[in-house]
Amino acid sequence: MRILSWRLILALIVGVSLVSIASSWYEIQAQKEALRRDLDYKSATLGESLAGTAELCLETQNPTCLEQMVSRFSNREHLIGVGVYGDDQSALVSTPGINASNAGLSALLKSSIQDDRIISTFTHLRFRRIHVLAAPLHAGNGDVEGGILVVHDAGYIRTEILRIWARVFIRVAAQVLVIAAITLIILRWSLSGPVSRVAVWMRALRTGQHAVRPPSTDFDFLSTLAREVAPLAESMQKARAAAEIEAGLRNANESLWTAERLADHVRNRLGDSNLFVVSNREPYIHSFRDNGIVVDVPASGLVTAIEPILCACNGTWVAHGSGDADAEVVDNRDRIKVPPDDPRYTLRRVWLSREQEEGYYYGFANEGLWPLCHIAHTRPIFRASDWEHYYNVNLKFADALVQEIAGQDNPVVLIQDYHFALLPRMLKERVPHARVAIFWHIPWPTPESFEICPWQRELLDGLLGADLIGFHVRSHCNNFLNTVDRILESRVDWEHFSVKRNDHLTSVLPFPISVEFVNGAVASNASEASGEERGALLAELGIEATYVGIGVDRVDYTKGILERFQAVESFLENNPTYQGKFTFIQIGAPTRSRIKRYAEFQSEVEAEANRINARFKRGKWKPIVFLNRQHNRHEVERFYRAAHVCMVTSLHDGMNLVAKEFVAARDDERGVLILSRFTGAARDLHDAIVVNPYDVRATGDAIAQALKMNINEMADRMQRMRRSVKERNIYWWAGTLIGALCELRFERRAEPRSSEQPMSVEISSGP
Ligand code: G6P
Repeated sequence: MRILSWRLILALIVGVSLVSIASSWYEIQAQKEALRRDLDYKSATLGESLAGTAELCLETQNPTCLEQMVSRFSNREHLIGVGVYGDDQSALVSTPGINASNAGLSALLKSSIQDDRIISTFTHLRFRRIHVLAAPLHAGNGDVEGGILVVHDAGYIRTEILRIWARVFIRVAAQVLVIAAITLIILRWSLSGPVSRVAVWMRALRTGQHAVRPPSTDFDFLSTLAREVAPLAESMQKARAAAEIEAGLRNANESLWTAERLADHVRNRLGDSNLFVVSNREPYIHSFRDNGIVVDVPASGLVTAIEPILCACNGTWVAHGSGDADAEVVDNRDRIKVPPDDPRYTLRRVWLSREQEEGYYYGFANEGLWPLCHIAHTRPIFRASDWEHYYNVNLKFADALVQEIAGQDNPVVLIQDYHFALLPRMLKERVPHARVAIFWHIPWPTPESFEICPWQRELLDGLLGADLIGFHVRSHCNNFLNTVDRILESRVDWEHFSVKRNDHLTSVLPFPISVEFVNGAVASNASEASGEERGALLAELGIEATYVGIGVDRVDYTKGILERFQAVESFLENNPTYQGKFTFIQIGAPTRSRIKRYAEFQSEVEAEANRINARFKRGKWKPIVFLNRQHNRHEVERFYRAAHVCMVTSLHDGMNLVAKEFVAARDDERGVLILSRFTGAARDLHDAIVVNPYDVRATGDAIAQALKMNINEMADRMQRMRRSVKERNIYWWAGTLIGALCELRFERRAEPRSSEQPMSVEISSGP
């Protein structure tokens, strides 16, 4: 930086000096010319008046007249001398400073008399710069009868020019000094400051101080650099964390799943096969904003889980293009390379009409299957028109997949979730040599519950087209196998957890999904940091409280948000000393709000928070803060770190990643998790306080238990939960799922003949 500054300043000095000197040189030349012209003029005027007077004196032949004339002129400024000469150049009269016997002067005088002309010139007289005017004198008849010499000292012109040059040098030096000083100040303020702060930040990264944040305002200034450095820094942090964890575990003879290990594993398992993932939600959404097209990553556990797999093996992700600018950025085959900053895999977008989205996504998937699979006492709605859209959209995705798979020898396909129950069969019928898995991210209900669905057989048959069906927990697998056993003609093998139907074998296995676990080590000052974070967050919210609880959910009726608020109310009733001290912050992301039940539920949550607040609120304290907007991952992590207690009270949930995210965020090994027994997460996190969310009183008591928990017990519980999440993290989930799919014994079935019907599922309006 210092060398750069000096080089810059030196270049400026040389540049400014050259420009100033060149422009001054022209000015000075002009000045010099003016001075010479001035002297010429003065000399000519003097010569003219001398000549006139001398001619008169000569005519009257009066020698004293000439002497008086000469002495009268002898004191003029810069005048060396004047002389009057006869036509033979003999001096008639002259001042002492002039000597016409000097060769130069006499030659000029002679030439002026002989040629009868005025000569005005600059020359040297004994190394002295002079100006000479030689002019002829005429008698009354016009004949030349002599001449005059007027000699001026021209040395003062050079002195004057030198003085001007001296002034120029002083001016240039002053300019250079001012410019150099200003440049130095600008450099220090606007460049050195940000660059050295960025350097401090990068040094902190290098030395492993993960908590240090990038200097964002400086990075605004260095935005081009920032675009490159920020992702680099993030990858470096991740790589360091992974390396530290791996190194630690290597000592303990264990091996942890990291993004790198997953990449390696997937490449080994897939060999020359290509991976295709299908989900409704896309990983990158392009939208129009005021300043052009922007790209967002949806806050989705599914996206977090699937993306590392795709990045690892350069696969293709087929998803619904839901952004209003999505179509602008794809190629002519509806594809785009992502992630935008570091393209590693292909996103193939499928377009749906508004009616299709209404019927398939809002209707059948979220008003039908969602409440059907979650026991939360919201009645599923089944409309024949929604089913038709669901069928057609599944078919549309099958078409897109078939196009993408064309020409692939051993494609491996991972289908995600309840939006695509029909897709495995549709795909297998057309591409029998594809290995197909579907992961069902929500619970599977009991056969009795599932039986109310008018298209139960079609859904089951569609799913059984897959080679592997994954659920979060064993009980969902059992429910599924029981459902198949009861509804479809097939052979369920309880020993191997598989179903054989029409000669096709489907394995049904649990793969508990998880989160990334970035922070390997326990930060020494993490506990203090969490207190500071809490103070900062409460100040931002304008709340005063001593204890903080946190809940993070989409505002969905399955999440038990009303029961949670009521548990807070019960806790405050039964533990009045906590009134004025305990505040529960609910982050509630709006979701699926075009569905009536969701819109109603949103109002119910607001009303319940208001009711409880009105009952207890005092001063700057209130029991419930409802933050009804989407929060990004970093924002949510601040709340996780600040909370004394996190409440996950879903009435029914496939897994619930909030519970695991909270545990992963607590590198201070503090904080208590209250967890519904009806979540998949309760099977993994035994050290949470497990509650029945329908039992409001007991859940309220769990809050009291959490806040009064002994610090050693709290740390003990958190350590064990963190170990579990760390070991069975998201990379472990992805690795075991792909491993299981690739290991299945796979009997290649013949390609369908062109005359064969590709589909075995029929659209029907009821069983
Ligand atoms: C929840 C479920 C996921 C599902 C997602 C869909 O997170 O657990 O299984 O894929 O909702 O959310 P969306 O916002 O796409 O409807």
